[in-house]
Amino acid sequence: MRTITTITREDLGFRSANTDERTHALHSYPAKFIPQLVNELIKSFSKPGDLIADIFAGSGTTNLEAMCLGRHSLAVDVNPVASLITRAKTAIVEPEVLILASAQVLANALDSARNQSIESERVIELLKGKNMERLLHWFSPENIVTLAFLLEEIQKEEDIDLQDLLLLIFSSSLKPASNWLDWSVKPQLDCRPLLPTDPADRQPNVRYRRQVPGVAEVFTRKAKEVARRYSASAEHLRQQACYRPEVICDDINRHSLGKDRFDAVITSPPYLTSYEYADLHQLTAYWLWNTQTVTSFKKLGFIGTQLYEERMVEETLVTSASLDLMRKVMKPLAQKRVERYFASMQRCFATTYEALKPGGHFCIVIGNSRFRGYEIDNHKVFLELLEPLGFSIENVWERPIPNKRLTSLRHAVTGRILPKVFEGTENAIEVYPTEHILILRK
Ligand SMILES: C[S@@+](CC[C@H](N)C(=O)[O-])C[C@H]1O[C@@H](n2cnc3c(N)ncnc32)[C@H](O)[C@@H]1O
Repeated sequence: MRTITTITREDLGFRSANTDERTHALHSYPAKFIPQLVNELIKSFSKPGDLIADIFAGSGTTNLEAMCLGRHSLAVDVNPVASLITRAKTAIVEPEVLILASAQVLANALDSARNQSIESERVIELLKGKNMERLLHWFSPENIVTLAFLLEEIQKEEDIDLQDLLLLIFSSSLKPASNWLDWSVKPQLDCRPLLPTDPADRQPNVRYRRQVPGVAEVFTRKAKEVARRYSASAEHLRQQACYRPEVICDDINRHSLGKDRFDAVITSPPYLTSYEYADLHQLTAYWLWNTQTVTSFKKLGFIGTQLYEERMVEETLVTSASLDLMRKVMKPLAQKRVERYFASMQRCFATTYEALKPGGHFCIVIGNSRFRGYEIDNHKVFLELLEPLGFSIENVWERPIPNKRLTSLRHAVTGRILPKVFEGTENAIEVYPTEHILILRK
């Protein structure tokens, strides 16, 4: 492989960009693209009317930007929550209709839930197929009853776009209406002590358990937020309606993308040390798709989980100099996982090659990862896997990730990481982590 020069692109840091614009912030999703970054990539590597794809679409950032820029697009993701968010973010409804409908479904649900309990026949009927043990682990019986009636009301909605937006509001209400430790992204019950009713009994240094609000309060708040954000973009979405994305919920390694179809594929893949999407989105999965356990949710095929990589074992034939170096130093188990991860990535790179039109571009945004004490330079291995497939490497860019939470403080001379208390002192500089953007061409 020829030597590739990495170009630093400070201009792609988008330090002061508003990442919540359009409908991007309707629902949270981990490791989202910065919309401004994909917007640049779409403009640079496609033209109006072209067809582009994101094969790990997540919350559909690429697809929403593509729609707004007048490109047709395909969104593939194995996570049904991701597909729901992508559909809802690009849905076409009248904002007033959404406001009325969200108030109406809630009013009807509260009406039906009156005098009902978790033991009522009607409620048992509504909860059929759901894992009650899991629901009771996360929700109070009162909130379960209201959620059951609310979901029933939403599912009666015949306009699918409107139903998707209501389901998105429902989904984003679940965590705040549950006993999930509010500040944790991991699925953790809030086990802090209960707030004593008598203020005199409260200790100044104790962090008490959050008072879990009722479903009505959370749903109303979320519905207002979604309606406000959606209303600001509704007109533009309607104008761009012919560019609404096709949304497919599937494992990319089981899905055929076809041959010579796409002008560009723009994506950011899951990591080996991936966020556990299934852990994070389990509440939505229990309610919307009657998923029984987190393990059964994971079995859908999330790359970056052990379950998935075990499936690739037969096909591990990755050859890469960087990977060979890692093989030498890694413990056998770590080595196996790393190899299998790259084998699954190699497979979807081959699918992408086939699906791109000759001359089409493949843009991959990827950072490094740490796994069991090893630093893995993902982009280097990726490049070594991509070139033998036929891709030519046009550019490798490195961009800063200006995220305050990830910034580390380092000593300007020694480069050593400094604890937070050194902030503002001489020689303490803020270092932004970086990620790579690989620009390849078929
Ligand atoms: C880094 S995230 C993409 C986030 C996206 N760029 C956004 O802006 O929201 C990676 C995505 O890959 C998806 N994924 C993991 N394994 C997959 C598979 N086998 N097929 C398709 N998608 C998969 C995950 O569900 C996750 O949404």
